[in-house]
Amino acid sequence: MAKPLGTSNFTLVLIIFLYLLTYCFHIHIVECQCQKTKGKASLFIFGDSFFDVGNNNYINTTTLDQANFEPYGETYFKFPTGRFSDGRLISDFIAEYAKLPLLPPFLQPSSQHSYYNGANFASAGAGALVTTFQGSVIDMETQLKNFKKVKSWLRNKLGKGKSQNILSNAVYLFSIGTNDYLSLFVTNSSIPISPQYQQMVVGNLTTIVQVSRKEK
Ligand SMILES: *[C@@H]1O[C@H](CO)[C@@H](O)[C@H](O)[C@H]1NC(C)=O
Ligand SMILES: *[C@@H]1O[C@H](CO)[C@@H](O)[C@H](O)[C@H]1NC(C)=O
Ligand SMILES: *[C@@H]1O[C@H](CO)[C@@H](O)[C@H](O)[C@H]1NC(C)=O
Repeated sequence: MAKPLGTSNFTLVLIIFLYLLTYCFHIHIVECQCQKTKGKASLFIFGDSFFDVGNNNYINTTTLDQANFEPYGETYFKFPTGRFSDGRLISDFIAEYAKLPLLPPFLQPSSQHSYYNGANFASAGAGALVTTFQGSVIDMETQLKNFKKVKSWLRNKLGKGKSQNILSNAVYLFSIGTNDYLSLFVTNSSIPISPQYQQMVVGNLTTIVQVSRKEK
């Protein structure tokens, strides 16, 4: 995602992003109607560079998928956190409005990691398809596996009932899909953006949402 884009590619990516954003918020409205319990909701965050707060700092990848160098981060954090942004990401603002602390990257090694407020699994460059930037990113299947690890952590700490409460009242944020198209340009792929390809992206995206709904 770090590569400078031509205007037309950028417009395409922007349109896809806006579409996905609308799609995400639609899902959230549906989720929120199911919430009955009061109190703070945790945030579980999945996806690509729009939400990656530094998970890719901890994987073997290239600078194309990393943002842990200057001038990233100089305004708000005063150091490059790994966010593809000078300041906070949309998911950070959502956490702030929800009165939650900003979530660290799931892969950040820390003796006092806790997941009571949720977790951020996002990886710059990831797509709905496992094949998108394969080997350079944490793909969505792996992100969902990491979510399962957090589920086990919560169950061990809190027991089945309380951990289930957290999971079913949580908000799940996804930003995924732009890289499935972007990667074709960046890698000069011969794969055309055909209706079949789009169907595959949307099909995998749908599966991701369905699996995570079942998991929660
Ligand atoms: C990281 O990836 C590069 C290129 O794919 C590879 O040559 C290298 O061995 C990898 N390093 C580790 C520590 O896995
Ligand atoms: C893609 O094609 C452009 C223009 O032909 C070239 O400059 C670039 O190095 C190519 N990128 C890759 C990853 O092959
Ligand atoms: C998901 O993508 C794979 C290719 O990576 C494809 O074979 C599969 O059919 C897609 N699944 C759906 C439900 O579209």
